[in-house]
Amino acid sequence: MEDQPQGTLQNVLEQDSLKWVFVGGKGGVGKTTCSSILSILLASVRSSVLIISTDPAHNLSDAFQQRFTKTPTLVNGFSNLYAMEVDPAVEHDDMGSSDGMDSLFSELAGAIPGIDEAMSFAEMLKLVQTMDYSVIVFDTAPTGHTLRLLQFPSVLEKGLAKMMSLKNKFGGLFSQMTRMFGMGDDFGEDALLGKLEGMKDVIEQVNRQFKDPDMTTFVCVCIPEFLSLYETERLVQELTKFEIDTHNIIINQVIFDDEDVESKLLKARMKMQQKYLDQFYMLYDDFNITKLPLLPEEVTGVEALRSFSRNFTLPYKPLCSTDQVERLERRVSALQSQLKDAEEELEKVKRGKQKA
Ligand SMILES: Nc1ncnc2c1ncn2[C@@H]1O[C@H](COP(=O)(O)OP(=O)(O)OP(=O)(O)O)[C@@H](O)[C@H]1O
Ligand SMILES: [Mg+2]
Repeated sequence: MEDQPQGTLQNVLEQDSLKWVFVGGKGGVGKTTCSSILSILLASVRSSVLIISTDPAHNLSDAFQQRFTKTPTLVNGFSNLYAMEVDPAVEHDDMGSSDGMDSLFSELAGAIPGIDEAMSFAEMLKLVQTMDYSVIVFDTAPTGHTLRLLQFPSVLEKGLAKMMSLKNKFGGLFSQMTRMFGMGDDFGEDALLGKLEGMKDVIEQVNRQFKDPDMTTFVCVCIPEFLSLYETERLVQELTKFEIDTHNIIINQVIFDDEDVESKLLKARMKMQQKYLDQFYMLYDDFNITKLPLLPEEVTGVEALRSFSRNFTLPYKPLCSTDQVERLERRVSALQSQLKDAEEELEKVKRGKQKA
C-alpha cells in the first residue's frame, strides 16, 4: 500500500473558479459523508457555500444532525455554509398560476420524456443561480439518477426547440388550445412560451457552465470492491460523454493495516481491497485518488465530519506517535496477562505431575 501515491482533495479546495461540485457514486459508499465534508472544507476557503441534496432519500439531515428543507438553511455552527434538500421529481410549483395552465403544461411536457423532472431541476438551478453562492456542492443520488440529472439541461434545450418549432408550425392551434382550457390572454400561449423562453437562458447558461472544467467538476466516490470499480468506470465514461470534468476519485472504507490484524476475516478483506486498489490506481493514473479509512463507527454530526475531514487534505497516516505508544502499551499488557495465564497453567500441570 505504501508504494501507491497518496492523493488528497486539496486540488478541489484550491480551484477558486469552481462553481459546481458534484459528488456521486454507487449507493451507500459515502457520497453524503464526502459531500458534507467537502462543503465544510470549502466553507473555510470560500465566502459562501451551499450544499444541495438531490437524492429523494435525503440524508444531509442525518450527516449534519439538523433538519433541512427545500430552502437554504444555515448549518449550525457556521456563518457561510447553507444546506437544502430538493426532490427533482417533485412538481414545479410556479410554472402556471391557473389549473388550465398546469394541465396544458403537463400535456405538452408529456410529449417530451424527462422534461417534467428537467423543468423542476432547472427551476431549482435558476433559483440557486440568483442566490450568488461562491460554490455549490451536490450530494447526488446513486449513479443512474445522477446521470439523468446531468442530462437535463440538454433534454430541456431539445424540448424547448421542439416546442418552438411546434409553435411556429401550429401557431393558431396553440391559441385555440389555451382557449379550450379556459384561459384568458394572460395565461395564453405567449405566457407559456414566455416562461419557457425565460428559462432557456438559464438552461443554456447552466449547460455551458456544467461543461466548463474551470467551473464544474464531478468527484467520484467508491469503495475498493468489484461492483464499485465497475460502476465508477461506467460513471467516468458517461461523464466524458456529457463533457463533464472529473479528475478526483475518493476510495472510501479502506482497511489500513495499522493495527496488527489478527482476524482472518479482516485479513481476507484487506487482501481483496488491495486487489481493487491496485486496479483503481492502474485505471485512473491521471486522477487524484484519495483513500479514506474505514472507521469503527459512523461519521455523523459536525464534530465527526470535521475530524474525518483531515483525511481529505492530508494523506492518511496510519500511526501518529501517541497512538503508537498506546497501542504498544495495550499489546504489552495483553501479552503480560497471557504470560501470567500460561505460568498458572504450567504451575497446575507441574503440581498434577508431582501428585501422580
Ligand atoms: N469511512 C467510513 N467509516 C465508517 N463509516 C462510514 C465511512 N464512510 C461513511 N460511513 C457511514 O456509512 C453510512 C453511509 O454513508 P453515506 O450516507 O455517506 O453514503 P451514501 O453514499 O450517501 O449513501 P446513499 O447512497 O444511501 O445516499 C453512513 O452511516 C456513514 O456515517
Ligand atoms: Mg447519501
